[in-house]
Amino acid sequence: MKEVHVPMIGAWDAWRRESRRLMDMGVPPEAVLWRFDDEETVFRALLEPPDTLKEPAGRQLLVPRAFLTLAETVICHSQPSRFSRLYRVLARLQKNRNLLQLPTDQDVHALRSMEKAVRRDAHKMKAFVRFRELEARPGQRRRFGAWFEPSHHVVERVAPFFARRFADMDWVIATPGVTVTYNDGALAFERTSDVPRYGEDMTEALWKTYFSSIFNPARLKLQAMTSEMPKKYWRNLPEAELIPDLTRKALKREAQMLNAPPSSMPRWAEIMKARAIDMRSQTDDAEAPPHSMEAGRHAVHECRRCPLHECATQAVFGEGPAPARLMLVGEQPGDEEDLAGRPFVGPAGRLLADIASEAGLDRSQCYVTNAVKHFKFQPRGKRRIHQRPNTQEIQRCRWWLDFELDKVRPQLVVALGATAARALTGDGRAIRERSGKIEKRVDNIPVLITIHPSAILRTPDRQAAIELRSALRRDLERAAAFLCQSQEMRSHAAIKGS
Ligand code: URA
Repeated sequence: MKEVHVPMIGAWDAWRRESRRLMDMGVPPEAVLWRFDDEETVFRALLEPPDTLKEPAGRQLLVPRAFLTLAETVICHSQPSRFSRLYRVLARLQKNRNLLQLPTDQDVHALRSMEKAVRRDAHKMKAFVRFRELEARPGQRRRFGAWFEPSHHVVERVAPFFARRFADMDWVIATPGVTVTYNDGALAFERTSDVPRYGEDMTEALWKTYFSSIFNPARLKLQAMTSEMPKKYWRNLPEAELIPDLTRKALKREAQMLNAPPSSMPRWAEIMKARAIDMRSQTDDAEAPPHSMEAGRHAVHECRRCPLHECATQAVFGEGPAPARLMLVGEQPGDEEDLAGRPFVGPAGRLLADIASEAGLDRSQCYVTNAVKHFKFQPRGKRRIHQRPNTQEIQRCRWWLDFELDKVRPQLVVALGATAARALTGDGRAIRERSGKIEKRVDNIPVLITIHPSAILRTPDRQAAIELRSALRRDLERAAAFLCQSQEMRSHAAIKGS
């Protein structure tokens, strides 16, 4: 009979080392006595029919990874038979490598139950350790101490969790078997000599107040509570002394809650509610449009059709002659436009004016506007970073675009970029496939789809930017040609009719 000693601290490494040695020597499970630490009991191997024969020494040991994971957990269990049970399963695995997949096998079943119990105990330790602040040592980190009574030997397993979570302080967790200390980032384990006395600290009263104020009497479920927070842990939980009183009064408090008048809405909620009502009342698409361009130009400043008005400086309406033969539609005002209150006056606007004039278009002859009238952005430090308007915002603002189209009555509209194209045609397909083409709106107004000048400014590759610029210029030339053509046709018609 071989007698093997497994220490309480470092049990996993010791069991692993010893098991390997015994297997190498071909010692069958029934011939091993496992002794745990300095306890008096000798844990005899389970005396069940030996189904493991003496292994020939020197044979390659088969240790599936799943077994290692299982064994590392089971080792923490407090049941004396765990060492022999694990060793026996290790021996049986040499004959049947799929043994762990047999949940009805007695050994496997026993190990799985132990595994579950250890996991649960480790989880409870993470949840129920309550530190108390210890006296500070001058110039050193704050120190905390806790006394905890786990059901199994989980301290070594759980200590790294506390080291990660409370890395910026020194602490000690004492348990009946092992005490772990964490000093200056290093974990150390030792056998506990006596029960430490950690007095109540200043935060304990605060913690109890917090606990009783989050305790909801209307949600009290005693069974669920005691299953999650078993009573055996209560004696080391400062808040537990409040539980009997809180539960006793729960029914009465619940009744008081039911009878109490509703509390008034916080101020911010009132403002939000008023704003929502305000918005609803102003988002009626059937609302009659302003009677003139001038009236629209004023009314747009009161627009609450979508939330973008909340952060923008002002609404930016279109500008230019109305009626006009050509209407240029961008996405939304940018940072400079938002401050100036005029469309396309920033970098994209200057580039557009340059390319338009190269293409033979005079900006002052065009009506220039945007699909969305408010600047949408995200503040980042002192800067306001442009954000694309979403489908709903585009949709809400179409009311204004339709109003402008009605007043401008253009022969051609140029949609600069995807937002404008979507707002004008209702089609959200990418510009790539549509650029340079003329599409018809439902009201038959032709829309020439092209890229937005900002796309040129944003393209870092010089050659690619040059190509984009040429494409925009080509499209604007096309717009100019279209206008010439339609002008000629009108002149012909006028001559014929005269
Ligand atoms: N980009 C736009 O789409 N419109 C402007 O007015 C300015 C930049």
